[in-house]
Amino acid sequence: MNRSSIGALLSTVALAYLTACSGRSASADAPADVRVPAVTAEVSTTEPGYAVPTPQSNPESLPPLPSGNTVTVNLVLLDRTVQIAPGVKYRAWTFNGTVPGPVIHAQVGDTIDVTLTNKAMMGHSIDFHAALAPPNIAYQTVQPGKTLHFSWVARYPGAFLYHCGTPPVLAHISNGMYGAVIVDPKDGWGSDARSFVLVQSEFYPSPYPGAPGIFYGDLSKMKTAMADVVTFNGLAFRYRVNPLQIKVGQPVRVFVVDAGPSHFSAFHIVGTILSRVLVDGNPSNQLEGIQTTAIPPGGGAVVEFTVQQAGTYPVVTHSFGDADAGALGLFNATD
Ligand code: CU
Ligand code: CU
Repeated sequence: MNRSSIGALLSTVALAYLTACSGRSASADAPADVRVPAVTAEVSTTEPGYAVPTPQSNPESLPPLPSGNTVTVNLVLLDRTVQIAPGVKYRAWTFNGTVPGPVIHAQVGDTIDVTLTNKAMMGHSIDFHAALAPPNIAYQTVQPGKTLHFSWVARYPGAFLYHCGTPPVLAHISNGMYGAVIVDPKDGWGSDARSFVLVQSEFYPSPYPGAPGIFYGDLSKMKTAMADVVTFNGLAFRYRVNPLQIKVGQPVRVFVVDAGPSHFSAFHIVGTILSRVLVDGNPSNQLEGIQTTAIPPGGGAVVEFTVQQAGTYPVVTHSFGDADAGALGLFNATD
């Protein structure tokens, strides 16, 4: 098979992905009470002076649940230069100016009211893995200067990905268009714990012509899946430089999402055993006593652990090529 026929095959696979990945149908094993109102979406011309939300400053923090049963999500599509590794500034495509975009926190039963405003140079969209919605309506591409409004109801608990679904999805995810949606179960997660959100993703930078020190996303590299930079929360070694602070004897709960676009996470915390892992973050999928948990691109997990002694505990993907490329941080445990 020559290169162009491989390319054609890959396009077919990508289209199948777009159809399959962009929404979940209520399957036979879905809870019997899963009923979602019809999702409609309106496109309008963006109001002049539309305010850009303040970027989330601590990507590892889970924002509090809003009061009431509606979660208002204002996302603005912005082209921004962000730092992805020491000395590497990257021309990113973003939700609200950061990579990853803001963490969205809801509870089962909540309505998520989404306004997506495009202030970037090209068309983008948003695909919520946590939603049950027709992709051609809710996840349609929004052109620059336009605003899309739609809402959906959270029916499943979990740690979910959201991402831009505009083709080529590979480029839109590689360039920074993703974030986490955390949907709490109706009765919460169980024990009180210190919570963190970690989004793993990888980058494929090449030098931007004529702009020393600035990099852009190289589509030919993305297609090889040979990433130069792999991160937790968008910056290589972010939590080696600034460790995540925990306490001896205090349960820790980490909401992990793998944005990919192409690499699995072999999520592992050195010096611990994960006491509980909820596959995709759903308490129906509970595992206990896990050394390393596999999280696919487009998947998530809730992991819990408690350390018994003060020290520094590295958090890595056990695919060590990726840990060396930046997906390595530290938990610093004190008494
Ligand atoms: Cu997807
Ligand atoms: Cu996009």
